[in-house]
Amino acid sequence: MRTTFTIFALAGWMLCGTANGQECEQTIEGNDALRFNLTEVRVSTSCEQVTITLQHVGSLPANVMGHNWVLTTTTNFVPVVTAGQAAGPPGYMPEGDPRVIAETDLIGGGETASVTFDLSGLEPGGDYTYFCSFPGHYVLMKGNFIIE
Ligand code: CU
Repeated sequence: MRTTFTIFALAGWMLCGTANGQECEQTIEGNDALRFNLTEVRVSTSCEQVTITLQHVGSLPANVMGHNWVLTTTTNFVPVVTAGQAAGPPGYMPEGDPRVIAETDLIGGGETASVTFDLSGLEPGGDYTYFCSFPGHYVLMKGNFIIE
């Protein structure tokens, strides 16, 4: 009896947030050395929605070493970085920009922010880039977002 319950509980846990073994909820870390811990994030087309949680594992404040997680097409990556720098502090992101697919808040050390978005408007195999829009960070803080 107890074993059966445990197996069902475990199966439920494994199914939650995954599709075909792909994580629909993923965590990425940013640190005080201008790095994300992942250079790519892979999600499955069978994820109805994707949730990305950004953890700033450093200790510097947001006005010095702020990080966010922003997703655009690779074509729009640098133009959106430029628009974010023009928008200035505290968020370094343009307001209501249709080129932005998803974005978290800009956070400082010890903080966490997440964003949930739909994959329905995105192309499997398309060329997408995620990055941090804090001035200068995009040079090192970027990666490929792969829908497969
Ligand atoms: Cu950053």
